[in-house]
Amino acid sequence: MKIALVGATGLVGGVMRKVLEERGFGNCTFLPAASERSIGKKIDFAGREYVMMSVEDAIAAVPDIAIFSAGSGPSLKYAPMFAEKGTVVVDNSSAWRSDPNIPLVVPEINGDVIKATDKIIANPNCSTIQMVMALCPLHKRYGIRRLVISTYQSVTGTGMKAVNQLMKERVGEPCEKAYPHQIDMNLFPHGGTFEDNGYTTEEIKLVNETRKILRDNDIQITATVARVPVTGGHSEAVNVELNEDFTLEEVYDLLNRMPGLVVQDDPEHNIYPMPMWAQGRDEVFVGRIRRDFSQPKTLNLWVVGDNLRKGAATNAVQIAELVRDRFLK
Ligand code: A2P
Repeated sequence: MKIALVGATGLVGGVMRKVLEERGFGNCTFLPAASERSIGKKIDFAGREYVMMSVEDAIAAVPDIAIFSAGSGPSLKYAPMFAEKGTVVVDNSSAWRSDPNIPLVVPEINGDVIKATDKIIANPNCSTIQMVMALCPLHKRYGIRRLVISTYQSVTGTGMKAVNQLMKERVGEPCEKAYPHQIDMNLFPHGGTFEDNGYTTEEIKLVNETRKILRDNDIQITATVARVPVTGGHSEAVNVELNEDFTLEEVYDLLNRMPGLVVQDDPEHNIYPMPMWAQGRDEVFVGRIRRDFSQPKTLNLWVVGDNLRKGAATNAVQIAELVRDRFLK
């Protein structure tokens, strides 16, 4: 099996290499590509050294699967070129997510939507993936009417430059800025760019992607995204109004039975999900599960996940596994 990784030098690209190796892709023919700046550089994968190639050369090698984590521009340009050759593209950018002809997949939830003819498959936004992991079993059982979301997103979601900014600011060294403000000892309600309606692109992704993955355009969703000086993962406070009433006992049971989700909820002993504990883990963690006493049929959740793993690399590699097992064997 041949597998290309476009964006192999990036922050998510590095975690993708690790996850591919962990999940048994180490013996594949590996084709690492990135921008022209990186051609000829050496990169490690599964204990071997590889030379970075151009995206054009990776396309010409006709891999079975190409995983993209290089931003929307390269995805828009190159994904159709891979697809035309018959390669299945798993794209981690936002380029294709809202296209009605492109499946947007979290394997535990809607892996069934992928067809043999799909040549581009979109990996959802990191904050959406972790949230729908907790919401899916509740939606199936009770139906979700409305979501009010506040996120506390890690700088790792913005890439290497942002992590570098936080680390340099922390030790008082000058650096290139990924953000319009200092992030160390600060936070800001700003992820992505502002749209005409006052929301940011990151907030709108949570609305559209959640509806698409849960296959329900009637869910009312409002979100505020904040960037925080944290590296381990994204945290989200989610207020969930359901169509039917629930018992907390049943909610715990549903969440406990969701594959890939871990209930971490023992406030008496100060146990609740935190980025520090989620970092490096593939599971999504949910806690602070409690009834919202301000209105009926409503629940509060606190959801944390490593945005580089389940929020990006792990989910993408799970999609690749699904494609391999279903269509390439
Ligand atoms: P490069 O290292 O050559 O710039 P991050 O999210 O950490 O900033 O990483 C972005 C990734 O996307 C890097 O691997 C980067 O490669 C890659 N990339 C950026 N622009 C392009 C492009 N035009 N074509 C292919 N890869 C790109």
